[in-house]
Amino acid sequence: MIRSAAIEDAPRLAEIHITSWQAAYAELLPAEFLDGLSAERATRTEQWQDWLSTDSPKRSVLVVVDDEDVVGFAHLGPSGDKDLKPNEVGELYAMYLDPGRYRQGWGSALMTAVFDELRASGFSDASLWVMTGNASARAFYEQAGWEADGAETDQCLGITMPAVRYRAKL
Ligand SMILES: CC(C)(COP(=O)(O)OP(=O)(O)OC[C@H]1O[C@@H](n2cnc3c(N)ncnc32)[C@H](O)[C@@H]1OP(=O)(O)O)[C@@H](O)C(=O)NCCC(=O)NCCS
Repeated sequence: MIRSAAIEDAPRLAEIHITSWQAAYAELLPAEFLDGLSAERATRTEQWQDWLSTDSPKRSVLVVVDDEDVVGFAHLGPSGDKDLKPNEVGELYAMYLDPGRYRQGWGSALMTAVFDELRASGFSDASLWVMTGNASARAFYEQAGWEADGAETDQCLGITMPAVRYRAKL
């Protein structure tokens, strides 16, 4: 089942966010940095609580639920890129599953809901940034219909890391 996130989901979202970074980025980011994220659960839970309690137009958090357990999330809203129109282009800011749930179809189910939600919010196009070296996610996005548009950055997810932009027509 996929539903909008509730404020009570904040601790689980923080946990998935951290453990999924630690699993997915083990070969991309220093172990020390990733290990240090475990100490950020409380502050990240508060950050999720803030996001979920603030009514931002066209912004939403979707969660995928298996037998009452939240196993992944997607955070989406207007594009934050200067060269894109935020009224027209919706951005998938983040999409993370519990590491025990990778490659079982949960991400594909969530992506269908992401596209539906972006269309329902009135966007005609979508964008996302993914670390250049994140081959697994890039393969996932490509099979879901996303294509790299040539834009690149050195700053991704708040850290210095090369990333590429993908786009999709809605
Ligand atoms: C990326 C992610 C959301 C994909 O969700 P998922 O449930 O694992 O993906 P699915 O099982 O729906 O995969 C669908 C298809 O995508 C492709 N795919 C998914 N993971 C892949 C991988 N590791 N390598 C190659 N192709 C992959 C395959 O074509 C797959 O179909 P198949 O399993 O029948 O071959 C999830 O793996 C995840 O949270 N990864 C870690 C965090 C991350 O990198 N997030 C993106 C940040 S930008």
